[in-house]
Amino acid sequence: MTQKRSRRTTQSKRWLARLQKVESPDVTYVSDTFPIVMKKARGMKITDVDGNAYLDFTACFGVMALGHGHPLLMRAMRAQAAKLVHGMGDVHPSASKVLLLEWLARVTPFDEAKSVLSLSGGEAMESALKTAMIVTGRHEFVSFSGGYHGLHFGPLALTDRSTFTRGFEPWLKGKTHVVPFPLAQSVRSVGCEALDEAFYRDTHALVHWDTSLEKLEDALRTRKIAAVVMEPLQGRGGERTWPAGFLGQVQKLAHQFGALLIFDEIYTGLGRTGSLFAHDHEGVVPDLLVLGKALGGGLPLSACVGDCMDAWGRSTGEARHTSTFLGHPLACGVGLAAVQEIVRRLPEFQRELSRVDQSFSAFLDEYCARGLHTKIPFQLRGRGFMRGLWFPAAEPGFAAKISEELLALGFITLPSGARGDVLSFTPPLIARAIQFDLVLKAVLQVLAK
Ligand SMILES: Cc1ncc(COP(=O)(O)O)c(C=O)c1O
Repeated sequence: MTQKRSRRTTQSKRWLARLQKVESPDVTYVSDTFPIVMKKARGMKITDVDGNAYLDFTACFGVMALGHGHPLLMRAMRAQAAKLVHGMGDVHPSASKVLLLEWLARVTPFDEAKSVLSLSGGEAMESALKTAMIVTGRHEFVSFSGGYHGLHFGPLALTDRSTFTRGFEPWLKGKTHVVPFPLAQSVRSVGCEALDEAFYRDTHALVHWDTSLEKLEDALRTRKIAAVVMEPLQGRGGERTWPAGFLGQVQKLAHQFGALLIFDEIYTGLGRTGSLFAHDHEGVVPDLLVLGKALGGGLPLSACVGDCMDAWGRSTGEARHTSTFLGHPLACGVGLAAVQEIVRRLPEFQRELSRVDQSFSAFLDEYCARGLHTKIPFQLRGRGFMRGLWFPAAEPGFAAKISEELLALGFITLPSGARGDVLSFTPPLIARAIQFDLVLKAVLQVLAK
């Protein structure tokens, strides 16, 4: 059994008290036992300022795909920093920006891919939304319930969560039609027999696939929609996969009514789901692909890629869309080293996934053997290195509580889903099944209580 640690917290508490004096109060959630204050990290291991060690099952929001402090990336960082740290994105470009753009053009599924670079996921979404407006001459969007596309004003209009939109509604109003998420088959579920379609509709706003497509078509019929925006696997929405064939239907409808299809692969891209891009699993190619998180190898970098960029026209000296740090040379240099390494090692990561599947199967068996399924029904969600344990009948915030308990046992995880009822695992892609075994054992221990 994993021992509950008598965690040292003195230093963390000191730092948190100092933080609370100077940071806006709605940024970091602080309680008696949460959060830790990070000091250093290597591979999957994070150490806090009190010297406690943790296994990172978040890759720090999906960013550290190769683990923390990867020597190759450290070398790339030093090499690029010695040459050029900051440049002039839309005026005098750096060679490292050109190399990264060429790489993106090679690996993305477009004949003549061109990109707009930026720093965060939300900014890359802004590029995608603006591009769709310029291509179509339209100014409204469709997104799906539970989708998360960032909190900048553009993508915020697509992010269907009142926690984030509260206070800004009048500004956001009328920009987006939110279509309900379709009920999908879970990978595997236990104890859910009594939960019928009405339960999923009433408690989780999940609808039959036909209803979802009808609502989508209603919105598209207005012929005001510039693009349908979706994550090929919803991340913060709770590792939610779409029913097989659904993405293809969405694409067909979008194109029928002259709208673009934007895949937000900020979370799912670059190996996270077990293939280079999550849309590879369904073979549906979007008109615009948005990447972020893992793209910068730990530095802030994001991109909007597609083959419709020429709609912007040629710059006449003042770029219509740019920013001070666009194509940041250091981020591009490190990012290129990171993504090339992800591609090189992808087969190795994929091989480990069959063992990870076995870890989840063993967890499921043990869950039933202990009779937990009769008390807490649950479903496995997600794929690759983006997995969730969904507790559909539990009270809101249930996974957040488990996550806090896991922290005390030495595991960093995050809750996800609009109700905070999914315990999510998005570790670095270097995670081994044996490490999943450890955290899943700890989950059983916490649930058995
Ligand atoms: C799917 C998706 N899109 C967009 C974003 C926003 O990215 P950022 O926080 O870098 O702005 C996120 C962040 O979690 C995300 O998961």
